[in-house]
Amino acid sequence: MGPLKSYTPKYTLGLDLYLGVQGTSRAAWSNPAMTEGENHMGTAQLEYTTDEILADHRFAEPLVVGGVVCHGGFADDGTYVSPRTAGRAPALLAWQANHREVFGKDILHAPIETWPGNYPNLEQARLLLRNGVRDPIISALTRIGTVEGFGAMIRYLAPADMQPFFEEDLRGTATQHLGLGLVEAHARDEAGFEDVAGHMQMWYAVRDIAFENPVTQDETVNMLERMGIGGVNMADPASARERFLARRAQPDLDMGLEMLISTMLRVLFVEIKAHHVFAWSEDLLADSELAAGEGEAARLVSFIRQDEAPHVEYLRTSLTEMRDRTFIGTSGKKYPGSEIIGTMWDQSMKESLSTMEDLNRAAILSEVELALSKHPKGKDLLAEFHALGDAPVGVPGDVDLDVRPELVTGY
Ligand SMILES: [Fe+2]
Ligand SMILES: [Fe+2]
Repeated sequence: MGPLKSYTPKYTLGLDLYLGVQGTSRAAWSNPAMTEGENHMGTAQLEYTTDEILADHRFAEPLVVGGVVCHGGFADDGTYVSPRTAGRAPALLAWQANHREVFGKDILHAPIETWPGNYPNLEQARLLLRNGVRDPIISALTRIGTVEGFGAMIRYLAPADMQPFFEEDLRGTATQHLGLGLVEAHARDEAGFEDVAGHMQMWYAVRDIAFENPVTQDETVNMLERMGIGGVNMADPASARERFLARRAQPDLDMGLEMLISTMLRVLFVEIKAHHVFAWSEDLLADSELAAGEGEAARLVSFIRQDEAPHVEYLRTSLTEMRDRTFIGTSGKKYPGSEIIGTMWDQSMKESLSTMEDLNRAAILSEVELALSKHPKGKDLLAEFHALGDAPVGVPGDVDLDVRPELVTGY
């Protein structure tokens, strides 16, 4: 099998990374029985226990940042190895290969080029940092970390048994394993598990390395509230549910199932788009004139980026499996998966490219304006900041950051 989709030569999402293709020695991966990636046609393992999906590789050394033990670790040759990929990575490759073979169809995909680049772009961010305006970048990194943590919410959405919702057999698919380890692995990657830190804490560490512990807890709370992701709004599942009910696309589907699929789509698009964020952060933070830590922050971001590959892959694999099957509605009526997934994909993509872009830009711009309002050359810098922007340049449309806080979930 050839390599999976590559997004840019530098930012490859392919799971081949886990199977020794990109300089990692396969022997270092410790579990040869579960890493026979090229052997999936017909003989690969398609059914896994939850423990197998959640299993780690044997690490020669853990990843410890500023005294905090993070997930993942290093192989004998020093290569970073993502957490919970001993079973999950080969499983994903096997399910994808099996789907292609059985259904003769490829795995759904949305290329990174679908989304605009990070806001602010690299030149805008460099302008701010060169002029000593660090707060908006610190806010942006804090926001990313916090939103990563919200990704753990997905663990509450996947039922243990998906079969009742589909006519065709689900055995040996990613969809069968959603509630049997896949969403749990995702949740643990994002928010950490027990005393091992995940992406949320790793992004805070990125910020603290690059800007030398710039914020207190109180400042963080205020910053997040200003950007619409703190406080009471996030903790109001009842109104989130009401908004969901008012916008249902598939009223005959089980409501929990529709909520799961719409979350999977939203998170998939955020996860892919996040590669713009990773590229931006790695380039910005690798510059030792603008960030402290001598490249350590950028290196940590590259580990987080690597960890995201299984998230993108399980989401798009399961959505593909659903697309090529038949849904059973609560009335017993049957619906082609292509209609259900097609409609929801389009709706979610539209939202990702409009509302979510606007929300993100508005949150960041308000932090830039706030910081520059206190700067002696603030007015000129703001004009220069906008002039350096990618289209659409300038102030985004009127966006109420509190309208639908549940949209902010993922990475
Ligand atoms: Fe993440
Ligand atoms: Fe993720």
